[in-house]
Amino acid sequence: MLVDLVVVAFWAMLPAYVPNNAAVLAGGGAPIDGGRTMGDRRLLGDGKTWRGTAVGTAVGVLLALGLNAVGPAVVAAVDVDLPSFPFLAAFGLAFGAMLGDITASFLKRRTGRERGAAFPVVDQLDFVAGALACTALLDYGWFTETFTLPVLVVVVVLTPVLHVVTNAIAYLLGLKDEPY
Ligand code: CTP
Ligand code: MG
Repeated sequence: MLVDLVVVAFWAMLPAYVPNNAAVLAGGGAPIDGGRTMGDRRLLGDGKTWRGTAVGTAVGVLLALGLNAVGPAVVAAVDVDLPSFPFLAAFGLAFGAMLGDITASFLKRRTGRERGAAFPVVDQLDFVAGALACTALLDYGWFTETFTLPVLVVVVVLTPVLHVVTNAIAYLLGLKDEPY
């Protein structure tokens, strides 16, 4: 059923969805690129910090462990077979999401976009690509079992919608400078 697919996709991607939002709340401090430039532009920019990346990754991993704890109760309640997260999968989803976002900033700077500039499609899917690639590298068995083709399709369609909605909310709450 489509609803089941959406529930599985959302559940499996939650540890990848939360890190970027946690980074927005925790950001600040030293930038990862240490102020370095490539050509006449920053390598990554002040928007990618060590603290934001570390806190984002930690929050994503802890969330996955929390989902493992409540998983059986949720499965019983909604009657959908939900995956639990081995540590490597949890880490791959969370850290991969941060890496995808960092890679996007690198590409933004190379294409002349200033910090905070919108980069449609890339902004909405960078962390999905990073999370899926990193998870596939770290725990390929879990990855193929969890992200079947239908689940992947739902993830790619659902994520941009969720991303736009959560960022608009964060913007309205004054947590983010831009609504994207
Ligand atoms: N953030 C961080 N570390 C990260 C990702 C995000 O500290 N690895 C924090 C920063 O304070 C950043 C905010 O979250 O300003 C919003 O994240 P994002 O929109 O990804 O960064 P931008 O500032 O818009 O910069 P960029 O144009 O490079 O995406
Ligand atoms: Mg931004």
